[in-house]
Amino acid sequence: MDTERVIATFVEYFQDRGHRRITGSDLLPPPQDPVLFTTSGMHPLTPYLEGRSHPSGGRLVNVQRCLRTTDLDEVGDTTHLTVFEMLGTWSLGDYDGSQSIAWGHDLLVDGFGVDPKLLHATVFGGDQDAGPDTASLRTWEERGVPVELTTRENWWSNGPTGPCGPDSEIFIWTGDTPPRSTPMGDERWVEVWNHVMMRYRRGDDGTLGPLPRPNVDTGLGLERLAAVLQGKRSVFEIDLFEPWMRTVPSLWPLEKPSLRLVVDHVRSAIVVIGDGVPPSNTGRGYVLRRLIRRVLTTLWEADPSRTLGDLPGELFQHTLGHFGQSRLPGEVREVLLDEERRFTRLLERGRRVLSQPRFSHGLDEEDYHYLHDTHGLPRDLVRGLRGGSPG
Ligand code: SER
Repeated sequence: MDTERVIATFVEYFQDRGHRRITGSDLLPPPQDPVLFTTSGMHPLTPYLEGRSHPSGGRLVNVQRCLRTTDLDEVGDTTHLTVFEMLGTWSLGDYDGSQSIAWGHDLLVDGFGVDPKLLHATVFGGDQDAGPDTASLRTWEERGVPVELTTRENWWSNGPTGPCGPDSEIFIWTGDTPPRSTPMGDERWVEVWNHVMMRYRRGDDGTLGPLPRPNVDTGLGLERLAAVLQGKRSVFEIDLFEPWMRTVPSLWPLEKPSLRLVVDHVRSAIVVIGDGVPPSNTGRGYVLRRLIRRVLTTLWEADPSRTLGDLPGELFQHTLGHFGQSRLPGEVREVLLDEERRFTRLLERGRRVLSQPRFSHGLDEEDYHYLHDTHGLPRDLVRGLRGGSPG
């Protein structure tokens, strides 16, 4: 089942159950939102989760591109991506969490053909702020799906303030042996779908209060599910990444984790630029800058003559086309190349400055400040030039 088919199956299933499809937004959350990028399908819906009525009604479905910087260190493994897509459903004061879980389970097993014996759920077991999610626990038990109870792992919040609540996550076993252990105990349980019983709001003072009406917010990782359904060991092997995995290894021979990092970060950078964010020293632009610099540092480790200018146009077209972005591939490529030139100049300056005798010993805080303020050399770059990781 290719990813387009996965999306269509998901959307149609929920449309048949009264959900209206809404258009996913770009990676930039609404201005009042506490996060830099859209990290989940619910961000663009925050005002509606907080009580406003949605013009498309109380049952919604969509596909939302997301970006998570919290997972940056995990990129290179088989499941984490910086930019990924989330298939989402929402009940805005409509059906409850048990109904959502029941539909989710049915869709995975009957719609996508996942072997029910390969499923495991986790459920919120309660803490000092909120009681255990007994309704979700009962629903899974009735369906014969094993459950692991946790606390922090099963609490979803939209940043430090805003809508939040207990969640129930669905994991699929991806090991070669029959399933063993539990999701928290074995990484071969891969989380694919989260159902959040969003009934609280965390206020500015940190206290938890009820939302005007309870909602259910779910998010299913498109690439992870596609990998399972396509029998692939990693998200990088699914159809969506085919042009990348066909072209990049012949351009730049890299070890597997580095190849994945390069593919993930360049693709993510294209999407971020496609959404109108330029590289800069703060906020979103800084995240973009870090992605590009990380790619270049990885590429240049083995061969400093490598350049992003070698990337085939097909990769820009494929990515911008997939995400429905209107920026021209040539423009996006130029932003990448500009940033590459800037980084090259910065490294040259850094090497020149750091070769001065006064820096031949260990650097102290004063040195770092001087290098930054006088020469524009950030601390992580200086560390990289002196043999550490530039981060
Ligand atoms: N907001 C939840 C998550 O991101 C469900 O979409 O996991």
